[in-house]
Amino acid sequence: MTPAPGRLLRTRISGVGRYLPERVLTNHDLERMVETSNEWIVERSGIRERRIAADDESSGTMGARAAEEALASAGLRGSDIDLVIGATCTPDGMFPATATVIQDAIGAGRASSFDVNAACTGFLTALSVGSQFVASGSARRVLVAGSETLSRVVDWTDRGTCVLFGDGAGAVVLEPAADGEPGGLASPVLRSDGALGDLLYARGPASARSGAGAASGVPAAGDNGADPLRAVASCIVMDGRNVFRHAITAMTEAAQACLAGAGLEASDIALCMPHQANVRILSAFARNLELSEDRVYMNLERYGNTSAASIPIALAEAVAEGRLAAGDRVLMVAFGGGFTWGATVVEWSGVREPERLSAVPGPLPSTAPPP
Ligand code: UT7
Repeated sequence: MTPAPGRLLRTRISGVGRYLPERVLTNHDLERMVETSNEWIVERSGIRERRIAADDESSGTMGARAAEEALASAGLRGSDIDLVIGATCTPDGMFPATATVIQDAIGAGRASSFDVNAACTGFLTALSVGSQFVASGSARRVLVAGSETLSRVVDWTDRGTCVLFGDGAGAVVLEPAADGEPGGLASPVLRSDGALGDLLYARGPASARSGAGAASGVPAAGDNGADPLRAVASCIVMDGRNVFRHAITAMTEAAQACLAGAGLEASDIALCMPHQANVRILSAFARNLELSEDRVYMNLERYGNTSAASIPIALAEAVAEGRLAAGDRVLMVAFGGGFTWGATVVEWSGVREPERLSAVPGPLPSTAPPP
């Protein structure tokens, strides 16, 4: 479909879905793995448990499960999709793109596919890219899947990081909004500062062996004769305190710039859908924006930080819980490794078949010590 010259189409989110692996790793399980306590993790992060992918699961397979649910809620099939965008920093491989794994699994045979990596800001970035494909008329139906298998890049001996992250996937379907129908992404703001890259990173197997790009303290290729590629890759490395500080500033500035660009006030926002990193970060952000906490969606106590998957998982849960009505304005805001950050306002249009969404588990009981 080609729009009239100079006329952009508005994009609507017509389907949402999510997939969480079955295995639950609780804070009490972590107490048996590293020097930590349930109380410390809950108080400092708000997280009580997270999901861990099974051996036969990956960002590709979980992304496909979330995509299937998103298609069902949109009343569509894989063959209706023109473009699949995967948002992940834990791809199935260096190549092909994880989006191609999802494309194949959902039967989107006529779609093109590629991945976006902006760490925890990946979903917002992919949503903005996908929306522009729809707005320009280059693609009619786009599937965006945020999917992460962080458990495979976490150092399970590092208590400063391993308590925070989890696995999972969320997906949305984008389509043009009809005239008079709610929809559209208002004033997306996307930013990055590579000078802050050392705050939060995981080196890949192709990173530099020496010089500025090399991982400090990592053996050079050849030192590990068995697997030279693994010798330069690293688990997640994080300066938690500094990430914390930058996160609050970055999310606040991005959200304010986005609202100003859209001509909106925080009071116009029905529900804020932030990247689920740490309850203290989200509370400080909400205070800065003067958003009451009941308008800030949080499910991190159940899933921890799932990076690019966290916003679409939260969105699918909010829809399944009936928290959004057509015309509501949803503020999405994220930050992550890179350093990357961003925000956008989505005018909610409603999905066609919300009853096709899987049920959201109830709130966790207050944590009792393990037997
Ligand atoms: O998508 C972006 C991903 N990253 C983030 O969102 C991370 C942002 N940062 C944070 O969430 C917080 O900085 C953390 C939760 C990682 C840490 O909380 P904090 O209040 O900033 O703690 P801290 O790093 O200042 O450490 C305080 C103490 C230290 O002990 P000492 O030096 O005071 O004796 C840590 O060694 O807490 C200790 N500590 C722990 N204790 C028990 C660090 N991790 C743990 C742990 N259990 N898991």
